[in-house]
Amino acid sequence: GLRVAVYNRTEARTREFMRQVGARPIIPAYSLPQLVELVQKPRAILILVAAGLPVDLVLKELLPYLDPGDLLMDGGNSHFIDTNRRSKALARKGLSFIGLGISGGEEGARYGPSLMPGGPRKAYDRVEPLLQAIAAKVNGEPCVAYMGANSAGHYVKMVHNGIEYGLMQLLAETYDLMKRGLGLTAEELAEVYAGWNEGELASYLMEITARIFRRRDDETGQPLIDLIADAAKQKGTGKWSSWDAMDLMVPTPTIDAAVAMRGLSSHRTERQAASLVLRGPQLSFKGQRQTFLQRLRKALYASTIVTFAQGLAQLREASVAYNYGVNLEAVAQVWRGGCIIRARLLEDIRAAFHARSDLPNLLLDPHLGREVVSRTSDWRKVVKAAVDWGIPTPGLMVSLAYVDGYRSAWLPANLIQAQRDYFGAHTYERLDAEGTFHTDWQKEE
Ligand code: 6PG
Repeated sequence: GLRVAVYNRTEARTREFMRQVGARPIIPAYSLPQLVELVQKPRAILILVAAGLPVDLVLKELLPYLDPGDLLMDGGNSHFIDTNRRSKALARKGLSFIGLGISGGEEGARYGPSLMPGGPRKAYDRVEPLLQAIAAKVNGEPCVAYMGANSAGHYVKMVHNGIEYGLMQLLAETYDLMKRGLGLTAEELAEVYAGWNEGELASYLMEITARIFRRRDDETGQPLIDLIADAAKQKGTGKWSSWDAMDLMVPTPTIDAAVAMRGLSSHRTERQAASLVLRGPQLSFKGQRQTFLQRLRKALYASTIVTFAQGLAQLREASVAYNYGVNLEAVAQVWRGGCIIRARLLEDIRAAFHARSDLPNLLLDPHLGREVVSRTSDWRKVVKAAVDWGIPTPGLMVSLAYVDGYRSAWLPANLIQAQRDYFGAHTYERLDAEGTFHTDWQKEE
């Protein structure tokens, strides 16, 4: 119902689009000056082009026609450092800039995505009604909220994608355990995932996973999944998420493992050669299939909580480091609908931050912490089985190790400190005295 003017650099696309809009109040523009002319002042313009250079090129082209007070929004998966740079440059010209994280893919674009806007608060307030109108709704609540200053919106979207990578990797590992470990067929896999989607694991990714296993190839009639090459591509937002987590010294090992496994998957020819020379254990499952499936469901649920815990801990640290002022409850609220990582669990996550806005880690929420801990014994059995079978499950493993590490009052990092001091005189701190110390380790006793 909103009146909008639209422009695409390819005129034929705009004409094709206009044939589909029917009676909607959409006005086409066939040049950028024409578009700018059509929009009411102070203008609000949403740019949806591929991240990177295309955003800079569009901004450069638009700039001469804009007036101070106009507002630009970048709805792509831009890197947050680029967003900071662009908002500074545009602010010097009196223009406001909103880095608008958008999730939901083609379906979201059409029926309502999850929106993660960041930038000047005043600019957000101006476009809030527009964004609320186009956002996905959960129980009537729009999946949009102000994420914070500067590049907060694009940062939140980047971490969304990091979590997305983690969750996809975990689902892929459960698939591997059920396919190579238990010998389940595509139909059986579809049943399992559809069943899991009925309970605590209900999520968009679970739903589409069940559907994927049901799909047959039009030509051969075989399950389509078996015809798809086992090499994952990536545009890079998951990698950026890991990368910045490392810069901030926030551990996000499940997300890191997901990035690494996409990398390993892409070396397909090399893996095939290695499979002929590097022998692994003989696979044989002797046990109760149902028991294993229940354990696997629990391991997946606990790992899912851990993946969100890592991403949200990163957001919390980033918010302080980059002065975003992110409200994690608002993040959970926005992620509940329209986006790729939407899941039933996000209601509990939202409740956790509602109860305690400064919660350092989801694992410290009494409810979610219990949910994880009560599943660890089944989770350990799944990981042990994966090790015995030689099936790589780094996401499930490192999520468990994260819990074990996080709940360790003592970690062996004292040895690392001693080694650093030994070879590089980097000094160390002591438990029994204040200050920094160095030992001449080579000195004879
Ligand atoms: C979303 C998706 C979206 C896109 C990713 C895919 O939230 O709608 O995350 O942003 O599909 O860029 O990422 P990769 O190509 O890196 O897997």
